[in-house]
Amino acid sequence: MDDIEAVTGAVREGETRLIYAETMSNPTLTVADIPRLSAVAREKGVMLVVDNTFTPMVVSPARLGADVVVHSVSKFISGGADIIAGAICGPASLVNSMMDLQNGALMLLGPTMNAKVAFEISERLPHLSLRMKEHCARALAYATRMKKLGLKVIYPGLDDHPHHALLRSMANPGYGSGGMLCVDMGTEERANRLLHHLQNTAQFGLIAVSLGYYETLMSCSGSSTSSELSEEDKHLAGISPGLVRMSVGYSGSLEQRWAQFERALAACAKEATATPPPSITSFSYVTNSN
Ligand SMILES: Cc1ncc(COP(=O)(O)O)c(C=O)c1O
Repeated sequence: MDDIEAVTGAVREGETRLIYAETMSNPTLTVADIPRLSAVAREKGVMLVVDNTFTPMVVSPARLGADVVVHSVSKFISGGADIIAGAICGPASLVNSMMDLQNGALMLLGPTMNAKVAFEISERLPHLSLRMKEHCARALAYATRMKKLGLKVIYPGLDDHPHHALLRSMANPGYGSGGMLCVDMGTEERANRLLHHLQNTAQFGLIAVSLGYYETLMSCSGSSTSSELSEEDKHLAGISPGLVRMSVGYSGSLEQRWAQFERALAACAKEATATPPPSITSFSYVTNSN
């Protein structure tokens, strides 16, 4: 998505109907240039659809030229990892056509939200901005400290991230750079060892494939949420075997959590040459939506 010429070249006249991008990609955290993608979409006469699941409040794709914005509401918007829901935001003509009694996909295929769930979500929206600010602040603090320790951190809020300036140019003021960060541990074995100690030795967070919860959720993407990709596709997508994706939570104090992180790292270092870590075969209770 960061190769605009490739995107332009891939649009086939008469065949392509839309360009689909994530504001911030899962799990590699590359950032889409929404204004430029929007310009390509306009020029080619197709729609730009943007998945903003990772960056609600942080980026407003509709203001940057997206025609349709989709969210997994199960994540940051719900904030409690207890709801499976989604949102499609677009022009009334599109949304009404999806609800058309005779032909609408929402009417025919059934993804209509339960009214009680809709009410529950509406009660959580007023504090979404506060939650997002705290997710972002914690993620930046961890990313900065992890980098200082020499870890290979991927976080668009760090100025060494290739899309740092692009994100700053698109982000809403005061919201930071998102609550997701990645640490590349080099190998799956080291990633699993870190996850094991973070969850079981130090209680820093939970091993789970969902995101946007108040606790930190962590997974090794290559062997969990992206495990269906071939090795070649993972390589092309930049998903290395040791990539640990973290959805940074805000429970506990920053210093308390950071001490837990350092404790887990120390445990990893201590047994680096000893026995292999337990393999990660089960995830915590947090909803299995990734
Ligand atoms: C970026 C992104 N978009 C959409 C989804 C789909 O979400 P849901 O499981 O709520 O349908 C996910 C996670 O699964 C995601 O990470």
